[in-house]
Amino acid sequence: MHNDALDRLTDYPFDRLRALLNPVTPAPGKSQILMQLGEPQHPEPPIIAQTIAAKAGEWSKYPPVSGSDDFFNAVADWLTRRYALPQGMVKASEHIVALSGSREGLYMASDLCVPRTKHGKQPIVLLPNPFYQVYLGAILMRHAEPVYMPATKETNFLPDFSALDEETLSRTAMVYLCTPSNPQGTIASLDYLVHALQLARKYDFVLCFDECYAEIYDKVKPPGGLEAAAKLGGSLDNLLVFHSLSKRSSAPGLRSGFVAGDLNLMRRLKMLRNYAGASPQPPVLAASAALWRDEAHVEANRVLYRRKFDVADQIMSGRLGYYRPDGAFYLWLDVGDGEEAAKALWGEAGVRVIPGTYLAREIDGVNPGKPYIRVALVQEPDVIAEALHRIVDTLD
Ligand SMILES: Cc1ncc(COP(=O)(O)O)c(C=O)c1O
Repeated sequence: MHNDALDRLTDYPFDRLRALLNPVTPAPGKSQILMQLGEPQHPEPPIIAQTIAAKAGEWSKYPPVSGSDDFFNAVADWLTRRYALPQGMVKASEHIVALSGSREGLYMASDLCVPRTKHGKQPIVLLPNPFYQVYLGAILMRHAEPVYMPATKETNFLPDFSALDEETLSRTAMVYLCTPSNPQGTIASLDYLVHALQLARKYDFVLCFDECYAEIYDKVKPPGGLEAAAKLGGSLDNLLVFHSLSKRSSAPGLRSGFVAGDLNLMRRLKMLRNYAGASPQPPVLAASAALWRDEAHVEANRVLYRRKFDVADQIMSGRLGYYRPDGAFYLWLDVGDGEEAAKALWGEAGVRVIPGTYLAREIDGVNPGKPYIRVALVQEPDVIAEALHRIVDTLD
């Protein structure tokens, strides 16, 4: 006996990647360069080890279910500074819940926001296509209907809300949106965010902004969901924003993020977490608060990513549909057939990337990720240069 919804979760992208590439012998005599996973390889900020050592006596305590005052204050101050919000719009004591990585919250969002029925029908959850796979797992486990919004070159790599009909919008209980987006690196404009939030309020659904790449950008500082809320008068109704230290602070192993937004949902999330929350431990909360208070390491990180984009410009311009991403740290390369390209790159070049088809779903016979590979720029610039030269030599 098991929950049959689990049977629909069998195509996790990294399992599929292993099945594709394990039979392939990686290029003999070449160093292996791993670019399939969005796991930053930059050194982690020393603040983490220092703070955790200073809090060594606190491992004996159960973590507070939703976070500590110190953490809430650090996050509320950061959000207010980062998005130029009116003082007090995000209240430390009310609007924030600490997460063990944003993935945990993105998954729980569907338990929190999706009712059994909406207007007597099966609820819909909208998500971009391609998308971060956890969204789909959360939707399917909740027995909601996923409705994919194409985020392709034709739609400027963003979902187009105007393509949705009334019936779909009225059944929608929740929407996942990612900006800057993984895998395409698109930054949604403030007008786009405002329009999406207006729709959420008009049709009474919850808008979940996955903003875990908010601090990795090139020229344009990505606007956020809270900025849209401020523009509409400051209410946080129908809105959740998810943030993470995994990319901002190159600390995916810390498992630290947060969700902020709608007061009613935050209260219910605190209750739900009494049952099913993986609360960050007190030393982790302290280290996380210190990281949210520090901008120097974040700026240094951004400078390093811009150097990598410069390297990519030099090697990739005019090739394989290359464009310099506005945010996040992926190249989304149009190689014709992503699976074939991934096999060739592993077998002939020792470079491991993920086919775009694993990050998307086929709708009406078309998988929008099929022609692409995603290349994570997580290594140092010289390693990236070597990898990109090998990609060009193998595929172009
Ligand atoms: C789009 C997106 N959202 C969320 C996450 C989850 O990040 P974390 O759980 O480490 O905060 C990732 C990680 O790769 C991601 O790419």
